[in-house]
Amino acid sequence: MKPFSKPIYITRPLLPNREAVYRKIDEIFDSQWLTNNGPQHKQLEKVLVDYLQVSQLSLVNNGTSALQLACQALRLSGEVITTPFTFAATPHVLYWNNIKPVFCDIKENTWNIDPDKIESLITPSTSAILPVHVFGNPCNTKMIKKIAERYGLKVIYDASHCFGVRINGQGIGNFGDISTFSFHATKIFNTIEGGALSCNDPTIKMRVDLAKNFGFQGENSVIVPGINAKMNEFQAAVGLLVLNIIETEVEKRKKLTRLYQDRLNEIKGITFLDKIDKKVDYNYYNFVIRVNKDNYGKGRDELYDELKKYNVFARKYFYPLCSQFQCYKNYPSSSSKNLPIAEKISEDVLSLPLYGSLTDGYVNKICDIIGLLGANKLCD
Ligand SMILES: Cc1ncc(COP(=O)(O)O)c(C=O)c1O
Repeated sequence: MKPFSKPIYITRPLLPNREAVYRKIDEIFDSQWLTNNGPQHKQLEKVLVDYLQVSQLSLVNNGTSALQLACQALRLSGEVITTPFTFAATPHVLYWNNIKPVFCDIKENTWNIDPDKIESLITPSTSAILPVHVFGNPCNTKMIKKIAERYGLKVIYDASHCFGVRINGQGIGNFGDISTFSFHATKIFNTIEGGALSCNDPTIKMRVDLAKNFGFQGENSVIVPGINAKMNEFQAAVGLLVLNIIETEVEKRKKLTRLYQDRLNEIKGITFLDKIDKKVDYNYYNFVIRVNKDNYGKGRDELYDELKKYNVFARKYFYPLCSQFQCYKNYPSSSSKNLPIAEKISEDVLSLPLYGSLTDGYVNKICDIIGLLGANKLCD
């Protein structure tokens, strides 16, 4: 089979109509208000409260800042229990807040933090749990809430992958003390770079709003040691335009996901998360497979390398685990004994291309290539 004539990446940014962007730029130029809670910012914050069905929302300049501010607003310290199967930003913000990340294993069937393994990691220094709704698939929020209440811990959900996801019709940003979102260009909803925090407590929102603007309260008074984590007007304007096209994008990704699932079901040794809870409105943020070497005939790394020869650039998310990074690998919680499932899954996973402008033809061809590389072993 011939390689694709141009590179196929795992995602393409969801771009709004160019003319609409030019009109927004005109609006911003006319207003002469480029940042600091301008009209675009105010409007995006307002519409996202409705769209995400949350009571309080604060926009910020990226998802990492959102996590950073969440730790500050909840006054976290000591140790925080989190997952190693996530993007580097999740444990890094703990470190930057002088908090020690404690890694907890994940569940085989969801790839999210395993609530059954959280309690044994709690010590007198634990101040919070920081689970991640990995790849847009919600964590077991009920069990995590119970544990947090039993031990008096705060909960921050890293909902970076979860824009628009709902559980039983309830927006994902309603769980825990704070949820954080990333609006990075690679996310399903983007503001080029950007992010947000949602919470139910107006005091928390007030703390975040103060902290993201250097701690200024009015012109002459700085009441907390804040930072600059503001979203600017251009980012907010792009967000407003992307919001108009997000649902069409989700629909397109849903159809492509179904096609991947139908096609890859035929190939021995390739599996994927197909049991997202029926009560969840999922956002089809990405499509990740697991490669079982014994059954497929090749390991994940071999498949990744071979796909490149066909111009398909898959990504190994999340590999290596955060617990395997140089800076964290000597922590007691990073030991293989503590993280058997996470270590196994991290060796097998591969993110495949998924974005609305991908065609059925491309998905079919990617599946044909995966079938071919696996020595044509079809399922019975
Ligand atoms: C799980 C997770 N947390 C945090 C972040 C950080 O978000 P940002 O890149 O917007 O800073 C990302 C970004 O990719 C992520 O995937």
